[in-house]
Amino acid sequence: MKKIAVIKGDGIGPEIVAEAQKVLAALTAKTGVQFEYTDVLMGGVAIDATGVPLPDETVEICKNSDAVLLGAVGGPKWDTLPGHLRPEAGLLGIRKALGLFANLRPAIIHEALIDASTLKADVVRGVDIMAVRELTGGVYFGERGRGYEASADVVGEKFEFAFDTDKYNTMEVERIARCAFDIAMRRGKKLCSVDKANVLENSRLWRETVNKLASEYPEVELSHMYVDNAAMQLIRYPLQFDVIVTSNLFGDILSDEASMLTGSIGMLPSASLGKPGEPGMFEPIHGSAPDIAGKNLANPLGTILSVAMMLRYSLGLEAEAQMIEAGVTKVLADGYRTKDILTASAVGGEIKIVGTVEMGTLVAERV
Ligand code: IPM
Ligand code: MG
Repeated sequence: MKKIAVIKGDGIGPEIVAEAQKVLAALTAKTGVQFEYTDVLMGGVAIDATGVPLPDETVEICKNSDAVLLGAVGGPKWDTLPGHLRPEAGLLGIRKALGLFANLRPAIIHEALIDASTLKADVVRGVDIMAVRELTGGVYFGERGRGYEASADVVGEKFEFAFDTDKYNTMEVERIARCAFDIAMRRGKKLCSVDKANVLENSRLWRETVNKLASEYPEVELSHMYVDNAAMQLIRYPLQFDVIVTSNLFGDILSDEASMLTGSIGMLPSASLGKPGEPGMFEPIHGSAPDIAGKNLANPLGTILSVAMMLRYSLGLEAEAQMIEAGVTKVLADGYRTKDILTASAVGGEIKIVGTVEMGTLVAERV
């Protein structure tokens, strides 16, 4: 029995999680692997019910599970709350509470969706990138604040200022770099570390630390790239990348960019991992999309593929993970599309537009 804490969240969260659970039920029918779910609150729904985005009970239950499945959190209703009470604070809080320092965001292009990308087919065909984002450090967690200060440019007046601190220590850099090197060893043995070492001191320490670790991985071809160049290279020639490792902020930005290579952010899963043996958290990389919530329009495939990552990385069920991934590939090859991944044609036939619920059922049938 695998114990899964389920955070359905806000917006489209509940709809897409339901489809992922439908696919897991099909897996149970097929393989006998049982899942026990405990629903817990986080994000906007938690604020409405308890006054805080991350209740203590949620953290407790997540810590005592084998894995956490998350839909998405946030929405306009909670946008005006102070920072520490916003739904996003719940997300950052649970990452920190569970020690989820490594965020794996694969960007894989499905051949059936090659036309859905905004880039030319020749540029994106064969793209298979694993972005490894540091998730519990850097500027998202550094000291921050506001105050008033005088300016040398305007005499006699004070101006409000705000600051956030981007700080990393060598332990934090080393453990995320090690994770990325290990992943590179299991893939194409190429690792690109992205930083801004021409300007930022913390990037210089990042680069030194990654370089030191490289001697332990002589088979991995390591390169370094400045983040501005990386943003450009991802669009120019994405096939040059295998594994990318980078900081919290740069990883947030570059992983959204990488996702668009694949046609739709709605397709992409993610895994957030901490120490081996401790529960990981699995979620699609897209947000809560309040504009399409409750309309049976959301693409559940990012969440379904996140469940595959959960089977692989937290539950040790690699064969089962592959069954789900193969089911998704089959559904796409069969011509089924949610609106966000509409393409002009299917590989060998007609395109059929389906909603969230139908898409979940179609994958479940193919598991
Ligand atoms: C993500 C999201 C979050 C982040 C937000 C919602 C706090 O953009 O998971 O990429 O920045 O990490
Ligand atoms: Mg993001």
